[in-house]
Amino acid sequence: MTEPRKLPPGRLLAATHNPGKVRELTDLLSDIGFKAVSAGELGLPEPEETADTFQGNAELKALAAARGAGEPALADDSGLACDGLAGAPGIYSARWAGGSKDFRAAMQKVEDALTAETTADGEVDRRASFVSVLSLAWPDGHVVSFEGIVRGQLVFPPRGDRGFGYDPIFVPEGETETFGEMDPARKHAMSHRAVAFAKLKQFLAG
Ligand code: IMP
Repeated sequence: MTEPRKLPPGRLLAATHNPGKVRELTDLLSDIGFKAVSAGELGLPEPEETADTFQGNAELKALAAARGAGEPALADDSGLACDGLAGAPGIYSARWAGGSKDFRAAMQKVEDALTAETTADGEVDRRASFVSVLSLAWPDGHVVSFEGIVRGQLVFPPRGDRGFGYDPIFVPEGETETFGEMDPARKHAMSHRAVAFAKLKQFLAG
């Protein structure tokens, strides 16, 4: 049997050009001895996200960075998947907001698409998931992935301005506030990203 691959603490290459994501990663991983550096800082190109799943895209980004830099790299992919829309917007969650990143318009688009699917007895399926996949890849092509999912219900009109993206229309299961209304610390304790990170941290620390 082969031993599971481990990663010694130290610098961890984040396959992202987004400084916010690198800061968040360093915050989340510093207590177990990892410091994130970004693919942007190392001048690595951003690959096109051509896969058709969150995991596929997270893996291709992690692998491209790991191969480009010659060291292990971490990437993420996330989005909103609506039950009533066969998982849309899914991997296209950012793209539904367009080049101007207009999430008011993207949320309206979700609402319009859902109501267009109203059943003959007036039912609209408002169940949805936020999904986050973290992939850790090595230059030789080895890759491990960790998935976090939070289930909830979509509400309209949007409520709250504390989060980002689709937060104002998502009420997680067992809660009454949207992610946009909720104390950010509370969101971060239960989010899809928190679940995926907890699994990654367990792997890194183990
Ligand atoms: P990514 O940066 O390519 O993973 O794009 C993820 C997109 O999914 C973001 O632009 C948001 O639209 C959406 N998304 C992912 N996570 C969240 C979240 O926690 N709240 C709101 N929207 C999210």
